[in-house]
Amino acid sequence: MLQLTYISTGTPGLSGEQIRDILRTSRANNFRAGLTGLLLYDGYRFLQALEGEPSAVMATYNRIKLDPRHRALVLLSQRTVEVRSFGGWAMAAQRVTIAAGETVADLVDRMTDTLEDKNMRELFRGFARVRQAA
Ligand SMILES: Cc1cc2nc3c(=O)[nH]c(=O)nc-3n(C[C@H](O)[C@H](O)[C@H](O)COP(=O)(O)O)c2cc1C
Repeated sequence: MLQLTYISTGTPGLSGEQIRDILRTSRANNFRAGLTGLLLYDGYRFLQALEGEPSAVMATYNRIKLDPRHRALVLLSQRTVEVRSFGGWAMAAQRVTIAAGETVADLVDRMTDTLEDKNMRELFRGFARVRQAA
């Protein structure tokens, strides 16, 4: 299985409705294509991991790259994995509601708690902490 992770910058002025559209489409398409992953959006940048059959991952990534709702995609990692890191999620994608007293970093910690893959967990947690500091 292929697993890739990239970071991108959202087009300025993206609305909540546009984000919801991306999620809706992603979940439906990814479920059909047997892809799983995680998408984080902090109001400025996207961080996404996608995993599944190489041809399905690449076909989807090639579509995503052309999407005008973001730009400046940078591929962070691309590797072959035996086991999915995000097996349960057709696209656990969120700008999720943060509980009272919780920080974005706490939230990402919570979302990634069950990730077996330590590198992935650190990547996502690091992203949340950098954005919080910025
Ligand atoms: C940040 C971001 C992440 C996306 N992630 C996915 C994804 O995981 N799967 C997917 O099918 N489309 C994703 N898309 C949407 C694609 O770019 C594209 O619009 C969509 O796949 C077209 O699907 P449709 O032909 O069913 O409308 C994403 C778009 C953006 C901006």
